[in-house]
Amino acid sequence: MAKPLLVANWKNYPSSLSEAQRLLRELAKKRELFKKVSLFIAPPSPYLESVSNKIKRFGSLACQDISSLAKGTYTGEVTSEMLKSFAVRLAIVGHSERRALGETSKDVASKIDVALKSGIAPLVCIGELERDKDGEHFEFLRQELKLMLSGISKNEVVKIALAYEPVWAVGKYAKEAINPQELSQTVIFLRKVLGDLFGRAAADKVPILYGGSVEPANAGELMNGSGIRGFLVGRSSLNAESLEAIARDIISL
Ligand code: 13P
Repeated sequence: MAKPLLVANWKNYPSSLSEAQRLLRELAKKRELFKKVSLFIAPPSPYLESVSNKIKRFGSLACQDISSLAKGTYTGEVTSEMLKSFAVRLAIVGHSERRALGETSKDVASKIDVALKSGIAPLVCIGELERDKDGEHFEFLRQELKLMLSGISKNEVVKIALAYEPVWAVGKYAKEAINPQELSQTVIFLRKVLGDLFGRAAADKVPILYGGSVEPANAGELMNGSGIRGFLVGRSSLNAESLEAIARDIISL
């Protein structure tokens, strides 16, 4: 069986390079454990080089976003070519915190295309703003998925991963993570939509991760039997002991 996936999204939390390096040194002490999962670290872009140099022994480098624009007159954009040169292997695209700044599903579709063309696996985020008892959010998820994946083929979809991150469960203002039953129901639904779009065989190859208030206390129960391959972790990834505990929980399942 493939190893569980653990993606650490540092967001813009480490406020200096030395803070990021300190965290990395702490993580490196647990490298034997982290080798048992597929660990990716997505640091803020200015720290890519530093993390790239040190992560090789126990994980891989990811990025928090990717520009859909090619090299040119686009001040501030970080291109796929630049990311490749740091050995970035996975790109988080469509994170709800970027959508809150105006990114649309159409923009996400372009980013998926650019990532795939440059050989970086897109980790495509999807999640409803809120749940309602009539299940309207399922229709929202279906439409989002269709829009974001409209430009890719059956052969390409097997190169992406999906991160289900319900917006109401993400970040420090969230009350708590989703409950395991609702998670497993949603994972079945997302896989069904993937199957409708690309066929069952391709859909089954797409790893689905969960993100939103994951911590050592809930990682085991969220992973157990819910059909996810791992986690996209925010706050708990900034503490080496928490990330270690999450890794330990998902390895032992
Ligand atoms: P938290 O784990 O801090 O809720 O963040 C989740 C997330 O947004 C990961 O991308």
